[in-house]
Formats: sequence, C-alpha cells, structure tokens
Amino acid sequence: MNAFDPADQPPCNPFAEALPAGLADPFRRRLLSAALLGSGAAALSAAGIPLPALAGSAGRAAGSLAAFGGVPVSQDDQVHLGADYVAQLLYSWGDPVSNGPRAAADAADNENAQLQQAGMHHDGMHFFPFVERGKPSSTHGLLCVNHEYTDEGLLHADGSANPSPAKVAKSKAAHGVSVIEIRRDAEGAWQVVRPSRWARRITADTPCRVAGPARGIAAMQTAADRRGEVVLGTFNNCAMGVTPWGTYLTCEENFNNYFKGPATPNADQKRYGLSAKGGGIGWHRFDERFDSTLHPNEPNRFGWVVEIDPQRPDLPPVKRTALGRCKHEGATVTLARDGRVVVYMGDDERFEYVYKFVSQRRYIAGERDPGSLLDEGTLYAARFDEDGSGRWLPLRHGEKYPRGGLTVDHGFANQGEVAIRCRQAADLAGATPMDRPEWIAVHPHSGEVYVTLTNNDQRGSPERPGINAANPRPRNVFGQIVRWREQGGDAAAESFSWDIFALAGDPQHPEPAQQGTVRGDAYGSPDGLWFDPSGRLWIQTDVSTSAMHRGDYQRLGNNQMLVADVASGETRRFLTGPRGCELTGISATPDGRTLFVNIQHPGEPANEQSDPQRPTAVSAWPANQFPEAVGGRPRSATLAIRRRDGRPVLD
Ligand code: FEO
Ligand code: CA
Ligand code: CA
Repeated sequence: MNAFDPADQPPCNPFAEALPAGLADPFRRRLLSAALLGSGAAALSAAGIPLPALAGSAGRAAGSLAAFGGVPVSQDDQVHLGADYVAQLLYSWGDPVSNGPRAAADAADNENAQLQQAGMHHDGMHFFPFVERGKPSSTHGLLCVNHEYTDEGLLHADGSANPSPAKVAKSKAAHGVSVIEIRRDAEGAWQVVRPSRWARRITADTPCRVAGPARGIAAMQTAADRRGEVVLGTFNNCAMGVTPWGTYLTCEENFNNYFKGPATPNADQKRYGLSAKGGGIGWHRFDERFDSTLHPNEPNRFGWVVEIDPQRPDLPPVKRTALGRCKHEGATVTLARDGRVVVYMGDDERFEYVYKFVSQRRYIAGERDPGSLLDEGTLYAARFDEDGSGRWLPLRHGEKYPRGGLTVDHGFANQGEVAIRCRQAADLAGATPMDRPEWIAVHPHSGEVYVTLTNNDQRGSPERPGINAANPRPRNVFGQIVRWREQGGDAAAESFSWDIFALAGDPQHPEPAQQGTVRGDAYGSPDGLWFDPSGRLWIQTDVSTSAMHRGDYQRLGNNQMLVADVASGETRRFLTGPRGCELTGISATPDGRTLFVNIQHPGEPANEQSDPQRPTAVSAWPANQFPEAVGGRPRSATLAIRRRDGRPVLD
C-alpha cells in the first residue's frame, strides 16, 4: 500500500456509476483516417512549436526505430540499455544542488542539509538550454526536476517511527522541485555545476504567488494569508510542462494525502479525497496548517499548476489557478493556430477527467510577463463520445448544462470557485470519466494529442459498472493510450475525433482482455509520455509493484521505457529499470545526443510479507551499478543517456 499511489486510493467521482454499461466490441480500434493523420504539421510549426528548447528540429522527417533494438524484460536490480547506449548517473536524492553537503549514507542529514540537496522521488523534468553564440546549447543549461513524494522509511536514519518536528521539516524539504545547472565536458560526461547562481530548491514551504481567478477569493484565504495571495509551498509535484517563453510548469498531484480531513467530510471535501484517514504522512501533527479541520481552506491552495522561471531564482513560483484544481499529472503546452496558448492536463485518479485550457490572448514572442497569458482564458473538460468524436466542454462561470449550471445555484459564485472545484464543474458538464489520465504529449508534426490512461482496476466492478468506448476494459489493470485530433487541426477547437492507439497488456495473460493490442514489445500501465522532435513516441511505465501478480511480473518484468512509431504502432523496449522503480521524466538536449531520464522509487516496498504472491522489490540501486553513488539506501536519480559512438540518441 502506497499512500501516494492513486491506484491505492478510492475513487472520488460519484458520476462514475452513471455511464452506459457494456459495449458490443470493447476492443475495437477506431483508427483515424490517413488523411486525418497527414495534415496539421504546417499549422503547428507555423505557430512556433516545437518549443524553444527544441528549436531547430521542426520539419524533420518522422524518426525511425531502426536504431532501437528491443532490450529484453528484466527482473534484476540494474538499469539495462541496448549495447549502443551508456547511462551516466547525474543527480540522485541527497546530491548537493550547489555548495551543500553530500548525502549521508545512513540518511542522518537534517532539514538544513536536505534543503541544499536533491529531494526524493524524481518525476517530471525538463532541460532548459542556455543560449550560447546565439543558439540553444546542447552542453550547458538548467535542469528542472520534480521531487514527487517521500518514502519516510528511507528518508530518516531511524525510518518512519518516532515522528517529530525535525522529521516533518526534513520531509517537507525533500519535496518540491530542484533547479540545477549542468554542463557536459569534452569527453561527453555531464556534471552538476557547483556552485551555481541559478541552483535552487523549491519545497513545501517556499512562498508561491497565487495568480488567476482564484487569487484572493474567500475560499483561498487562511489565518496566515488573509488576502489569499501567497501560499507556502508546492508538493506532490508529478509531471510537468514547458511554456514557449521558457518557464517550467510543475503540477501538484495527490495533495489530499497531506491533509488531515474531518471525520465527516462534506461533498466538496469528498470530491477531492479529503478524509480523516488522510494526512498519512503526518505533517499535520507538527504543522497545524495541514490539519484541515482547523484550516479548512488550506487544501484549496494545492492541486494547481505552478509556474517556475528557472532563469530567475529571485522570482517566486506562481500558482496559475485558471488551469483548474485537481490531482494534476502534467500540463502540456502547445499553441493554437492563432497563437493562443493551449495547455492539456490529466487528473490522475480513477474515473477522473482530461482538461484543456485555452488562453484568451495570443502569445507574442518577447512580450512582457507572458506568464499572465495563463491567467485568463477558458478551461474545458473532455467528453469522448461513443462514435469516436469528442467535445471540449467549457467550464465557464454561468455556463448551463443539463445536469446543472456552473452558477451560484450550484455553489459557483465566480470563476475562481469553478477553478477550485473544477471536478464538480466537469461533473455537471458531463465530461467522460477516464482510467486515470497521466501524461499528455502533442505530436510535433501532426498536432495529434496522446494521453496515457494508466489503469483502473475498478472499471466495470459491480459498484462501478461504467464502461465507455475510450475506457473499454473492465478491471483495466494495464491501461491504454488514447489519442485525438482537434477539429481542423487547431488546438483551440471545441471538438475532436479520437481513437485508441494501444491497449497495453501482457500477451501471455490468461485473461484475453488483458493481453492488449501492443505491436512489438509489451508493457503495462503507461504513464510518462513524450514526443521527440522527430515524432517518435516515448512511453514510460508505472505498473505498481503492489498491483503486479507474480505471473505478470515474470512476463513484463521491472518498469521500462519504450519508443513507438505512431504511424505503424511498432513499439520497442529501450530501457528497463531496477527493482521496484517506475520510469518517469524525460527530456533531451537540442542536438538529441543526451536523453535525461528519471528512475523513481527503486526498491519501493512490495508488501511481500502480507502477500507472498507479490514480487520482492528490494533494491540497492544506484550504488550497485554506479560506484560513485552514495550507498546505504536506494535512491531516485536522473540518468544522462548517450550513444557510445557519440552520435545522437535521437538520430
Ligand atoms: Fe504522479 Fe499520476 O503519477
Ligand atoms: Ca505519473
Ligand atoms: Ca503512475
């Protein structure tokens, strides 16, 4: 049981049961026509995408998979790559950000040391190149890394027993985001630059500015912040996004677990998973603001997309509330035909929704305060219809829907309240409850949008019978990748057509429904998702160890990263991780020679004592593979992956 894994949390959506049950052919694929797939590239590149970090790559032919021979599944405690590739350990939990102390092997570091070191549980990540001689550098830049959550048993020298103010302070310091400066030397090895004027840690106590429609409204005000304008901290930072103006969007996911809720939560608290059982990490015991029975508005201040300017360490992070409040997985940015900013977002919980934000104003390169584009616009939730069409449903204050309007009658006094309770707004709008929306990626040429729906083992249960065409499998343990194409190829459109790119699965699974439709190397529970500039789709998996039955583990092995050709569907395994980890976080240098990848939570406990059928997932990684690593504990880490012959990984 992992209190921070959505797979281990009860669903909160009361509309999950209201779906039409049954489908004649739940495994049918609605392939988009070749004509649909072929157009739209021009619109996207005309709009200035790919984003600045990948400048110079637009217009390349679709990349081939020829260089990527599939590596076999593995169950050992190492990272495995094809023979042509080499991985370097770059940045592990406890490594100094700048001039700080190195980690103690026994985790004896206190809060002050942790504040100067890499946090735990690396997740979404992006490389921001410096511009050198007028071009984006592929050897020097800033790396932003999310630290999603902590394993309290590993974080403290004596484990999670004996909670104390010092342990809570260290735990908060191990959350948030790292900004580090990195440079590649002449031999091709990457180093963290120390000291660095840009390096910083953002934690669960860092002051963040609130912007957008929820700024200052009553529901955002607390005893410590009577104006509702400054929130302390960001945490459970999962996936991410990158803006055309070079900022990083870090996304707050399972924030509810950090709060002690009331014994009898009201409907709004229930909808976001607040309960007396929450607060599993125990911060509320020593920091009163995490006791929502005393500070009921504090949970409203989390679950946002937070903008960080990596090149301005003097500026606070900004919570962009127009993008809605949910268990945000990521925030993938593209531009509409006319230059308006479009952000795609998933809410990672069973039976939750896919969202999109379209800015009111157009992005003009070089404009002052471009981040304010994210403060005004329209938030939408997605409805995936049975016939392969779809609608974006505006969550606009005053909008009327058959289930009820987004009006005062239904508790929405203004757009700020719609943003804070966007799940309830999407319920009324009639959005489609999905199988845990995780990462979203936009094809750099066609503009097609892909989303990972990682799993939903409660889909089709007697209590929750709802099956729908985009979420067609009962007891969906392996998840699927759904894709859509916006009407007219314009990201700002209000309608789209969609199909299922792949049902993930285990080809040898005894249940035919769980065998999936993957062509090539098999995988389960897709999570991380990224298009490289050539249009190859990179897929990172997160089959929760505690959910993996022995037979599945023997066939699919440890979590992995794969690369797919979206035209043919061909998929090849590129990397397998150590025991108990998930793969999450991926970025590349502009020249494609270095791929940065995160290994999260190696050795995540598997509860093998309570269920002997589950695989043992102890890990000594990375010290067992990289002698330079600090040992003592398994550590989440960033890898820099290159080809041995010096050619680009993304050739
Ligand atoms: Fe943080 Fe949904 O993964
Ligand atoms: Ca994830
Ligand atoms: Ca996941």
